[in-house]
Amino acid sequence: MLTKKQAMLFFMLGTFLFSIIFIGLTYDTVTRGIPKHTHEENMTDAVVRGRTLWDQHNCMGCHTIMGEGAYYAPELTKVYERRGPGYIKAVLMSKTPWAPRGRKMVAYGFSEEEADDLVAFLKWIGEADLNGFPPKPTFKPQSKD
Ligand code: HEC
Repeated sequence: MLTKKQAMLFFMLGTFLFSIIFIGLTYDTVTRGIPKHTHEENMTDAVVRGRTLWDQHNCMGCHTIMGEGAYYAPELTKVYERRGPGYIKAVLMSKTPWAPRGRKMVAYGFSEEEADDLVAFLKWIGEADLNGFPPKPTFKPQSKD
């Protein structure tokens, strides 16, 4: 059985040790992990401008990216891979609400330059290493009987 003093020492040393480990791992994530997984070197001016447009127009009010945002409209993390730049630009530059599947996307009517910047941002996001997120849907073949 530990005495009160020993229990206190055990608590203090344990807290200190794990705080040091926690700070070390946080430092590693911020200085090495995030730049490596997001390919920070590919973050061009166009990507930054696209991100600014993304924030200014509240795209997350309807969409999710990396799982964050609202669930009204499609997840956009892998939209570049799924749809390609031509389709995305058509959606963003459309003067009428894009809605082939029923729900309406805002008709922003972006200029070609703005659409290119948003495409650059979505391409960059799509190339980030997200540890397998979002998972690819598995479509099981229907049984014949
Ligand atoms: C009012 C809600 C709303 C907002 C805000 C919104 N969208 Fe959308 N968006 C939608 C809906 C709904 C769709 C799906 C339309 C369809 O396919 O029928 C869509 C589709 C898209 C698509 C095509 C996705 C796919 O898989 O086909 C892209 C790309 C897109 N939006 C980008 C954006 C960007 C970038 C912004 C911000 C500048 C934005 N959206 C803001 C509702 C919204």
